[in-house]
Amino acid sequence: MTKNIAVIRGDGIGPEIVEQALRVLDRVASIYGHTFCYTDVDMGGCAIDRYGDPLPEEMLQKCVASDSVLLGAVGGEKWNDVPGHMRPEKGLLRLRAGMGVYSNNRPAKIWPQLAAASPLKQSIVDQGIDFIIVRELIGGIYFGEHQTNQTDDGLTAVDVLRYNEKEIERIGRIGFETARKRRKALCSVEKSNVLDSSRLWKKVMHRLAEEYPDVTLSDMLVDNCAMQIVKNPAQFDVIVTENMFGDILSDEASMITGSIGMIPSSSLGASSCGLYEPIHGSAPDIAGKDAANPIGTILSAAMMLRYSFDMEKEADAIERAVSDYLDAGYRTADIMGDNMTLVGCKQCGDLILERIR
Ligand code: IPM
Ligand code: MG
Repeated sequence: MTKNIAVIRGDGIGPEIVEQALRVLDRVASIYGHTFCYTDVDMGGCAIDRYGDPLPEEMLQKCVASDSVLLGAVGGEKWNDVPGHMRPEKGLLRLRAGMGVYSNNRPAKIWPQLAAASPLKQSIVDQGIDFIIVRELIGGIYFGEHQTNQTDDGLTAVDVLRYNEKEIERIGRIGFETARKRRKALCSVEKSNVLDSSRLWKKVMHRLAEEYPDVTLSDMLVDNCAMQIVKNPAQFDVIVTENMFGDILSDEASMITGSIGMIPSSSLGASSCGLYEPIHGSAPDIAGKDAANPIGTILSAAMMLRYSFDMEKEADAIERAVSDYLDAGYRTADIMGDNMTLVGCKQCGDLILERIR
């Protein structure tokens, strides 16, 4: 198969980690007889420097025209003081909206080889951590009006949180479908004791539940969910939630696995053209030092093969290679442990490459 992949290397460690993921993809292509064509797309801080815009329209069009997009990371201190509409993150939000990828899928799964790195007690980790957060990605407070105005009380800032039934229903369906393929337990997370948007969310989820009698739906308030993720993560199979709650909970969920550098994500909409990115940031402090962990990006590439290109065995091959690499005792600095062999970003790529078969 021939696939066109738009590649956003981005800022900070982005270029280094993406490079390793592309090497892995090329290896898969040569073993399994595919052709992956890459188109470089500038987004984030590097695009601000070059074009004065974090995502020029022509760059967005390259992404929309591709079969899928692989993204490293964007942002960094250098662009912290630019106005809100010009921030590198704005490029990312415009990309998500422009591609229509409303469903962001973030797995929180503990690698047995890395269980000791979890900050949770052994007794909690032993019960297992294997859930997915399905986060609504192109609605809610991220995309409502943002305004700062001078008032009698000084500056007043407003961010609007809006959801309509259609938006809730389409992400709800992804939640139910995802649960259906797993352990069939869906937890809908909201703040219905305070927010109207959450009361509507809950209502729509319960209406949908009638169409999915094989899936057990439960409701949880977001503050309680934050607590339950550290207290008893084994209870969760699939969590479905709105944009900002999902942003916050997915960072927490990644942390309890002990290795944020290992976690991939997929974002999909109505078509098979998805956006794949590790969930960690651009880590400017270690950029250019060959110290970053490329596995989150490599596993994002594997998700792209599985979910956008229907290449199951190819995705399995990458995931197996990562597991073999960990079994062999190699670790980048972020997950370094006793008696392990410290490797850099490129060497990590080499070691995973040679394990793909
Ligand atoms: C994420 C990030 C982004 C978000 C930022 C960079 C805009 O935190 O992907 O979780 O808030 O969605
Ligand atoms: Mg986040």
